[in-house]
Amino acid sequence: MNELLQQIKIEALANDVPIIQDPSLALIGDLIDEYQMAKIIEIGTAVGYSALSFLEHASVQMIDTFERNSEMASIAKQNIAKCGKENEITIHEVDALLFDEKELNSDYDLLFIDAAKAQSQKFFLKYSPLVKKGGFIIVDNINFHGVKADDPGISKNLRSMLLKIEAFVEWIKTVEGYSVSFFEGGDGLAIARKL
Ligand SMILES: C[S@@+](CC[C@H](N)C(=O)[O-])C[C@H]1O[C@@H](n2cnc3c(N)ncnc32)[C@H](O)[C@@H]1O
Repeated sequence: MNELLQQIKIEALANDVPIIQDPSLALIGDLIDEYQMAKIIEIGTAVGYSALSFLEHASVQMIDTFERNSEMASIAKQNIAKCGKENEITIHEVDALLFDEKELNSDYDLLFIDAAKAQSQKFFLKYSPLVKKGGFIIVDNINFHGVKADDPGISKNLRSMLLKIEAFVEWIKTVEGYSVSFFEGGDGLAIARKL
């Protein structure tokens, strides 16, 4: 990993910004290389760490990434500028559920969903049509730090979100037109390949 990216990661962790875990990033990197992915949509930029990490792979040409929190988007812009990747990464500073997805093309190799965890199905349904056949939709945090909805002592809000994640996992197993698998490393990924 280059030094700037390492610094961005250290700062994100020091500021409790939730960024992708190393095993998940490594797995996605392997898929990017294997399938020579060029175009990526990401929901959930935070400080730009995952997007900049994807760009480390030679096949990746451009990334459209969505961030609704203006403070995060501003830090991401600074980080992207520091790395000189303004031409490769476009930050859409908007709630991805409110954006008109028809403004984008429909030839993406990868849709990476890493935003509001209770909304994954909505992001999937809205943006998956932009992914080409043979492309991937990958959803992060499906194991949500190993916490389960029936664990004792968790708050009502957390339980509600965990139930939504569990419902999403059940739903994605049944979604037609995709071959679906799961990665248990990191915080857990759902990986759907468009048939
Ligand atoms: C887990 S962080 C993203 C981390 C980043 N992908 C990484 O690994 O470096 C999730 C981010 O998604 C953003 N977010 C949540 N819901 C969103 C939405 N509906 N539209 C755009 N951004 C959203 C949050 O503001 C937060 O910064």
